[in-house]
Amino acid sequence: MIRWLPLAPLLATVAISALGFGSVAAAPVSYKLPDETAAFKPGPNLDVVRNNCTGCHSADYIATQPRGPKYKTDFWKAEVNKMIKVYGAPINDADIPKIVEYLAATY
Ligand code: HEC
Repeated sequence: MIRWLPLAPLLATVAISALGFGSVAAAPVSYKLPDETAAFKPGPNLDVVRNNCTGCHSADYIATQPRGPKYKTDFWKAEVNKMIKVYGAPINDADIPKIVEYLAATY
């Protein structure tokens, strides 16, 4: 027994660092992906919409807007213009009709 005593601090250090290692390596990483509602629905000019409308907020902002015949082209034209004029979205003039077409056809 006595012969081992000088080694005790060393053994303790090895044991503690092994524990530390174990807890880092073994921690499982698990997370839930966002629901599909966070994605844009398929539709015309989807790539243009993805490029212009995902920089500041999720697609949920679009999906949660009112639906119905009153909320089509004019409504979406006003929304897109609001993003540009009020919130400073950097959207090319040429892309505006494409985005409005997608939104009116899809939502
Ligand atoms: C420069 C940043 C920016 C970009 C790019 C942007 N938005 Fe927004 N959007 C905002 C902000 C800021 C709000 C308001 C957030 C709030 O009220 O919490 C908003 C809100 C909205 C809303 C909720 C209703 C409303 O009027 O507040 C809709 C719908 C929307 N955006 C659609 C779009 C669409 C479609 C595009 C692509 C053409 C787009 N956004 C691109 C910044 C942006």
